[in-house]
Amino acid sequence: MKVLGLSGSLRRGSFNTAALRAAQELAPAGMTIETGEIGDLPLYNDDLRAGGYPPPVERLRSQLAAADAVLFVTPEYNYSVPGVLKNAIDWASRPPNQPFDGKPAAIMGASPGLLGTARAQYHLRQMLVFLNVFPINKPEVFITQANTKFDEAGRLTDEATRDHIRKLLQSLADWTTRLQRSAAGGSAA
Ligand SMILES: Cc1cc2nc3c(=O)[nH]c(=O)nc-3n(C[C@H](O)[C@H](O)[C@H](O)COP(=O)(O)O)c2cc1C
Repeated sequence: MKVLGLSGSLRRGSFNTAALRAAQELAPAGMTIETGEIGDLPLYNDDLRAGGYPPPVERLRSQLAAADAVLFVTPEYNYSVPGVLKNAIDWASRPPNQPFDGKPAAIMGASPGLLGTARAQYHLRQMLVFLNVFPINKPEVFITQANTKFDEAGRLTDEATRDHIRKLLQSLADWTTRLQRSAAGGSAA
């Protein structure tokens, strides 16, 4: 099972990118999580699309198309999703063959604050409705007080959070299998 992980932070010491690295380490057997680069995408401009998608956008769209599922790891900026992640979503959301269509997904996020990106995650869920992405509902992974949960090297050291991420990824694996079986005409159970 191939998962594409997208971190909404471009910062070198990002807690969210560190959480994505932790997810790569904690993925269940049979799941691999590749990281999608979004820092080199131009700002969305429909004129750029007229001559074909810019190469970094093509790369992201192909990675999404090839993925069985998507893992969003979002910071919270001003109670919402950071512009860089929204920009990537906007580029990938256009025709033809909108690559998010029908994909299973999981969401998590880290913030030094007490709500752990809850508000941003709910904005992201709203966007996923239009993209026809199917995010799992539970567990919700809100990594609060992130400044206390990673070490100097950016390793997630908080055992409870590691366990939560394990459960999120297992749930994503189960959900992805269920949707794929259902799409293939098998039982959805
Ligand atoms: C423009 C901006 C807006 C922010 N707004 C919020 C916010 O609404 N809620 C919150 O919990 N943290 C907010 N923060 C703090 C971020 O959670 C913090 O910078 C976090 O470390 C960003 O994620 P990263 O470590 O993955 O880069 C904001 C930070 C920036 C730069």
